[in-house]
Amino acid sequence: MKVVKIGLLGLGTVGGGTVNVLAKNAEDISRRSNCQIIVSSASARDITRTRICDTDTIQLTTNSQEVVNDPDIQIVVELMGGEEPAKSLILQALANGKHVVTANKALIANHGNELFAEAVKNNVTLAYEAAIAGGIPIVKAMREGLSANSIEWLAGIINGTGNFILTEMRDKGSAFDDVLAQAQELGYAEADPEYDVEGIDAAHKLCILASLAFGMPLNFERVYTEGISKVTPLDVTYAEELGYRIKHLGVAKKAGNGVEMRVHPTLIPEKRLIANVDGVMNAVVVKGNAVGTTLYYGPGAGAEATASAVIADIVDICRQLGAPSDHAVPALGFSSDQLNELPILPIEEITSAYYLRLSVEDKPGVMAAMTKILADNGISIEAVLQKEPEQHGANAQVILLTDSVLEKSLITALQQIESLDSINQPAVRIRVESLQ
Ligand code: NAP
Ligand code: HSE
Repeated sequence: MKVVKIGLLGLGTVGGGTVNVLAKNAEDISRRSNCQIIVSSASARDITRTRICDTDTIQLTTNSQEVVNDPDIQIVVELMGGEEPAKSLILQALANGKHVVTANKALIANHGNELFAEAVKNNVTLAYEAAIAGGIPIVKAMREGLSANSIEWLAGIINGTGNFILTEMRDKGSAFDDVLAQAQELGYAEADPEYDVEGIDAAHKLCILASLAFGMPLNFERVYTEGISKVTPLDVTYAEELGYRIKHLGVAKKAGNGVEMRVHPTLIPEKRLIANVDGVMNAVVVKGNAVGTTLYYGPGAGAEATASAVIADIVDICRQLGAPSDHAVPALGFSSDQLNELPILPIEEITSAYYLRLSVEDKPGVMAAMTKILADNGISIEAVLQKEPEQHGANAQVILLTDSVLEKSLITALQQIESLDSINQPAVRIRVESLQ
């Protein structure tokens, strides 16, 4: 059996998980890959630290150049995260003719166009299944399983930390900061957890999914991004009264001649399967014009779940060693000469239904004034909830669900509503997706 030596850049949560799963499932993995996979070296910042995996047979180094320049290593597995030095090390590994596997979505989203081109130039593979939705084989599903389809839209819960926080807040009433600390402890969060909470990590993943879906180059700067830090328990409760769950969703959709790419808290009808995806679990719904609506579900973060995707890429590469590189599936599912730039719609041009919560003075005529403004702007109301003030003199809460409306029309209407004397706080607005 062929021996394949791999070198790891990074030996933290995912690196350690990868070593553990390779050891625990060595027999199955070698039967599937027809190779004996050996982790021969690994780099980290501090090689004296206790690791979650056994490192006895691994050459440890603080110098990552030793890994990427080692002539015995055929596959470099980048699990250090961040843009630099990860990017330079991957470029060096590719130039040295090594295949590369990475879980680094920030790097792929920001520099994937350049990195994939370098891989092609050097006749090697740059694989990244673990970069999106942890253990879910969504890249494989989109690139291969759905290749007969024109993709109409996709929507996903693609950040495990954010979903874990929203779930714990809703189910246990836990405080935001406490749940975030727990997610960090469990190894789910990014090195900078703002990436999880403010939607940047989900935007990285969405940008890659959109390119896989529509065959366009990666365009991270154009993803509209809102995080979950402003979602309040009050809105979670009112949404549930209306039959919805609030989830942090990434949405990519073909609309007219363009494409929508957006990440934001979203109300989803509670009867949809994805509305019931809780904790660290992720799910991606993909609508293809032949297959219809499909759903991919699984753990979105964590050591061994992510290692599962990393190792699947390693096995794929082992299976292709020695084969001509034009047999490999293109990184984004379309060869580079088949990628098309598509116009990306600014957020004001998208169409969506909305949940609106307005804090209003409890006096006659307020509701009539608000509904008139909405009607004057062509906005229909689907449902209304009114909550009386909890104490005398306090504001009442009016919750409205609108029909689909162009975002810029809604902004105009809200500006007019917020200028009414009886409204003294900005409206809360959350987009609603039916996902049908
Ligand atoms: P982590 O636990 O912080 O591990 C990072 C590892 O990289 C550590 O071993 C660290 O060394 C090493 N490292 C960092 N900078 C380095 C440098 N300049 N030179 C040498 N080594 C360096 O991170 P992680 O959670 O495993 O995440 C790794 C990657 O996987 C990231 O791109 C992340 O976005 C992605 N990812 C993570 C998950 C997850 O569930 N955690 C899931 C999917 C994808 P020390 O240990 O000595 O500090
Ligand atoms: N921090 C990421 C998450 C890791 O929570 O989803 C998996 O990509």
